Amino acid sequence: MVVAIDGPAGAGKSTIAKEIAKRLNITFLNSGSFYRAITFSLLNSNINLFDEKAVTDHALSLNIEYVNSRLILNGVDVEDKLHTDEIDEKVSVVSSILNIRHIVNDKIRLLAKKISIVCEGRDMTTVVFPDAEYKFYLDASIETQALRRFKQGVSNLSLEKIKISIQKRDELDKNKVGGALKIASDAIYIDTSDLTIDQVCEIILSKIHI
Ligand code: DC
Repeated sequence: MVVAIDGPAGAGKSTIAKEIAKRLNITFLNSGSFYRAITFSLLNSNINLFDEKAVTDHALSLNIEYVNSRLILNGVDVEDKLHTDEIDEKVSVVSSILNIRHIVNDKIRLLAKKISIVCEGRDMTTVVFPDAEYKFYLDASIETQALRRFKQGVSNLSLEKIKISIQKRDELDKNKVGGALKIASDAIYIDTSDLTIDQVCEIILSKIHI
């Protein structure tokens, strides 16, 4: 079974998807962490992110695994290193490269062949799993998006700068050539701005029948 959840940054996707996976006792998968891990490795290797061939060759050389909802890069758990301001800023460049999207999508589809998952990202409901049993689009106002990121305490930016950075990233994500963020016609739309985590989970779980 695939429960697919899409939406912009700070819409609560990770928190909600994790909780839904826990309650259904299935695996949580954050597709963004694949793009983040590739970006992390490219930056560490000083590769020009605009050199698509170099970026693709580097990504193909990486061993990326996803174990217990944590990203393992070349055998090392890098999950806690993927949410820096620098990766936030650069990840859209990397995720807009079509070859990179194919590499990530193949890995995710392979995983879903073996296990039931709750996956979240930008194109889970549209490109990666268009036939998912359950599809949701989580949204939030820009103020809520920025405040949630600010409260995570992982950014060194001011609330106003976070807001600008999220707006910029969402804009890039919505206008990508492949895997652009959009609302699938058959996805259930939920604005999470004024809802608690529990309330969003209840809405989602009320639609899932297993
Ligand atoms: O969900 P996130 O913020 O961790 O995602 C990081 C970036 O990866 C985001 O800016 C867009 C990109 N991404 C994507 O293009 N497609 C996905 N399915 C998931 C994330």
